[in-house]
Order: sequence, then structure tokens, then C-alpha cells
Amino acid sequence: MIFGIGVDVLEAARVKKVHDRYGEHFVERLLLPGERAQLDKTKRKERFLAMRFAAKEAIVKAMGTGFAHGVWIRDVGVVQNSWGRPEVVYSPRGEKVRRKLGIGSGFVTLTDEAGLIVAVAVLEAAEKPARPVVDARRKTVRRKSERKPGTRRK
Ligand SMILES: CC(C)(COP(=O)(O)OP(=O)(O)OC[C@H]1O[C@@H](n2cnc3c(N)ncnc32)[C@H](O)[C@@H]1OP(=O)(O)O)[C@@H](O)C(=O)NCCC(=O)NCCS
Repeated sequence: MIFGIGVDVLEAARVKKVHDRYGEHFVERLLLPGERAQLDKTKRKERFLAMRFAAKEAIVKAMGTGFAHGVWIRDVGVVQNSWGRPEVVYSPRGEKVRRKLGIGSGFVTLTDEAGLIVAVAVLEAAEKPARPVVDARRKTVRRKSERKPGTRRK
């Protein structure tokens, strides 16, 4: 089940401006450690920062929190796996919010063209354990999945 979707369009030049002005301080405020490690290896650093910024906005929209409710810019992010696919990651604080809201796996896709960055995020709802049901006759609590077939309660 889908928990939420989010999208962001960003002019890469805006992020470049902020980076030019604040430099390392901006990078430290923006990136999670895993993202930071990837930045150090990438050649197109401005593009990387803009894409991470857009991804974060798309993720917080999908979470429904925006940059509020316990989620700031360094609490969510994306790190590419060995195939290059961006995967959603959280800080310990972001992880707490993720669990509290019942968010499961996350997916992000990114692209850029003509100076614009587009990020789309999809978050799945976490899988819930089967709902406990009370068997009044036996006075026991068992999970739906434990019931024998053909023994539906009336
Ligand atoms: C959600 C958020 C990230 C939107 O960011 P934005 O860049 O200001 O605006 P966008 O045009 O990308 O998106 C706005 C839309 O997001 C959606 N949105 C707003 N709050 C949302 C939320 N909590 N959950 C999901 N979607 C939300 C709405 O559809 C909104 O449209 P509206 O303004 O017509 O109601 C905003 O709440 C926020 O926290 N912004 C902080 C941005 C920031 O710190 N910028 C620093 C620049 S260096």
C-alpha cells in the first residue's frame, strides 16, 4: 500500500547560489553521512547537491511532514546503491518519525534537463502484523493468520 507520493522541481542555479555563498556550511547542513561520502567521489558537485536537495523535498512531501514535525533537511536523503539506483535513507531522528508514521520502503527517481532538477518519491506503508482477534469461547488471543481454515468466527 502506498503511504504517500512527493514531487519537486528545482532550478539547479538556486542551489549553486546558496552553495557559492555558504560553501561547506551548506553542505554540512544538507547532507547525511552516506550522501556526503558520495559527494566526495562525484565530479559534478553542484548537480549532485541540487539533486539531493530536490530528493529531500520530494521525500518530505511523500511523508506528509514537509520540513517540520521532527523532520529537517538532514533527516532524510538518498544514497545510490551499487547499480546507481537512489535509495531512501534516514537520520536516527528521521528514522523515528518514519516508524511513528508507519512508513515502509521508499523509492526516489531523479532527472535533470535544461537546468531543472525533477525528483519524485514514493513511500510505501509499513507492513503491519496481523491484527490480534479475541476468541471469546477459548478466552485466548490469537492472530488471524493462526486460525485454521474453515474455522471462521460467527
Ligand atoms: C513541503 C515543502 C518542502 C514545500 O516546499 P516549497 O519548495 O516551498 O514548495 P513547492 O512548490 O515545492 O511545494 C509546495 C506544495 O507542496 C505541498 N505540500 C505542502 N506541505 C506539504 C506537506 N506537509 N506534505 C506534502 N505536501 C505538502 C502542497 O501541495 C504545496 O502546494 P501549495 O503551496 O499550493 O499548497 C515545505 O513545506 C517546506 O518545508 N519548505 C522548506 C523549504 C526550504 O527550507 N527551503 C530552503 C531553500 S535553500
